[in-house]
Amino acid sequence: MEMSYYYFNRVVLVVCSIVVVSLSCFVAGDNGNLGASFIFGDSLVDAGNNNYLQTLSKANIKPNGIDFKATGGNPTGRYTNGRTIGDIVGEELGAPGYAVPFLAPNATGKTILNGVNYASGGGGILNATGRIFVNRIGMDVQVDYFNITRKQLDKLLGASKAREYIMKKSFFSITIGANDFLNNYLLPVLSIGARITESPDAFVDDMINHLKAQLTRLYRLDARKFVVGNVGPIGCIPYQKTINQLKENECVELSNKLALQYNGRLKDLLTQLNENLPGSTFVNANVYDLVMELIVNYDKYGFTTSSRACCGNGGQFAGIVPCGPTSSMCQNRDKHVFWDPYHPSEASNLIIAKQLLDGEKKYISPVNLRQLRDL
Ligand SMILES: *[C@@H]1O[C@H](CO)[C@@H](O)[C@H](O)[C@H]1NC(C)=O
Ligand SMILES: *[C@@H]1O[C@H](CO)[C@@H](O)[C@H](O)[C@H]1NC(C)=O
Ligand SMILES: *[C@@H]1O[C@H](CO)[C@@H](O)[C@H](O)[C@H]1NC(C)=O
Repeated sequence: MEMSYYYFNRVVLVVCSIVVVSLSCFVAGDNGNLGASFIFGDSLVDAGNNNYLQTLSKANIKPNGIDFKATGGNPTGRYTNGRTIGDIVGEELGAPGYAVPFLAPNATGKTILNGVNYASGGGGILNATGRIFVNRIGMDVQVDYFNITRKQLDKLLGASKAREYIMKKSFFSITIGANDFLNNYLLPVLSIGARITESPDAFVDDMINHLKAQLTRLYRLDARKFVVGNVGPIGCIPYQKTINQLKENECVELSNKLALQYNGRLKDLLTQLNENLPGSTFVNANVYDLVMELIVNYDKYGFTTSSRACCGNGGQFAGIVPCGPTSSMCQNRDKHVFWDPYHPSEASNLIIAKQLLDGEKKYISPVNLRQLRDL
């Protein structure tokens, strides 16, 4: 089964040109693999951009990355113990390497043909989001950065090949929005003004309008295959459960309600963009339901807890102090849905990624990621 599927997807282009005295064949091994992943978002998919910022949101400290094979367990700036969902999806779709962080010194030359990662811990759709961390790269600036990459691709491939590569062989994944609630709207210290003057409806409206402009800018830069994650059940993360002193199986209702409100509007936005931007495919990744399934039915998936962070400290769910060298760490990292107070473990990321790649419409629609690649 596996073998025939593999070969079915292999298309080998042989272009031969016979010139008067010479016969030259150009064999392009275009085997249907993904060319590039351009990854936008927050700490769920940051692969090291914040290492290069003066910021309070950093993950290039142990024991983050302890299960990341490519560095032998050394931290990379990823906010988890191993690979992010973006890493796993890229690998599964046949990308030749992980997308490099835009701010890394080696994000130059041919390396960027595998894609570039613009994600930043603490970043949000709105520019003001994440101010508490001092520095982070918001979505507006992430799109500005892609505009720089876009010009580099023209130089590397030539204008017409670059366009083709971006339209057909590249994925644009956007995982953002959670910080707009957690580190903006719901953060009393910084947003007290906004929360008094802005209703949840108006705030979500603002988010959707900004995201629409950001996605449209990417489209104008030739992005066509989009996957946009919705906001997860942020009321159920160990941080929120700890600071609100909830029981094991309780979640913060307001946080989840805001996430669901945004997610409903996001779904409509993506439908609208699919209709209005010719040649585009916007895929909605239902991260909320996927993560909620893991939280509620954790034992079904081999986890022993979905409330307690593996690495962290403070309160009943180790949910106050972020993961770092002085944190306590759980015995078995594969048995925790959450790696730290905010982020899923690699074990969870693997389950989520599998559903995005091959799953049903309730989790990924209108097509799953393998279908999106082959469009
Ligand atoms: C780029 O540098 C990072 C460290 O900053 C390293 O983890 C990664 O493997 C390098 N990637 C390439 C393609 O050289
Ligand atoms: C957004 O924030 C960045 C810094 O993160 C700043 O450079 C930029 O001017 C801001 N943009 C707007 C529209 O406020
Ligand atoms: C990309 O950058 C150029 C300037 O180099 C600017 O004219 C253009 O509007 C930018 N495009 C987008 C979509 O931001």
